[in-house]
Amino acid sequence: MKPIISPSILSADFAYLAKDLEMINRSEADWVHIDIMDGVFVPNISFGFPVLKYVAKLTQKPLDVHLMIVNPEKFIPEVKALGAHIMNVHYEACPHLHRVVQQIREAGMQPAVTINPATPVALLQDIIRDVYMVLIMSVNPGFGGQKFIEHSVEKVRELRELIERTGSKALIEVDGGVNLETGARLVAAGADALVAGNAIFAAENPEETIHAMKGL
Ligand code: DX5
Ligand code: ZN
Repeated sequence: MKPIISPSILSADFAYLAKDLEMINRSEADWVHIDIMDGVFVPNISFGFPVLKYVAKLTQKPLDVHLMIVNPEKFIPEVKALGAHIMNVHYEACPHLHRVVQQIREAGMQPAVTINPATPVALLQDIIRDVYMVLIMSVNPGFGGQKFIEHSVEKVRELRELIERTGSKALIEVDGGVNLETGARLVAAGADALVAGNAIFAAENPEETIHAMKGL
């Protein structure tokens, strides 16, 4: 099966965002990955809901929203109002993760749980049957264009095993330093979905790069 490709607009040209969103609409991308940062959970701030309202209007693909913020449950109504398909919250930001996952589902979105590079896959054991997707961070979240952390490939393998063992239907997505080379190894290890920012937007031909990623 072809991997799901979710371009991260964090690496887009914010002065000409409409142009990059049109490129994504035209391309073979499956989703659009939206990185929301608060300067508290991660050491950076990206964009907020007033900007995203217009992003959502111009986007024809399902929104894959990744919240790198504390208390993400506070913003379930705002994420829902964007028309988001998937709401990713961090394991490390949710002491009551099970409740947050239920709340996301009740709001009519697909719940996904994201784990940082230092968070072990095994900690997902008791939530894996309740989530639509797990997002494995293959860089420390906060910035685009960072170097891929090699251990992430092993984590994808471990997560695939956990999913099979528990009879979960969760998808596996990977985010950070994904390009054609690392992407190929992640797909071989069992990844279903790839997020890519820099590899797409810094490429000479972003649309062609998305096409190449679909072929992994
Ligand atoms: C990092 C974000 C990523 C980022 C990926 O904190 O979650 O989605 O945009 O960018 P690249 O693909 O450039 O590593
Ligand atoms: Zn992300």
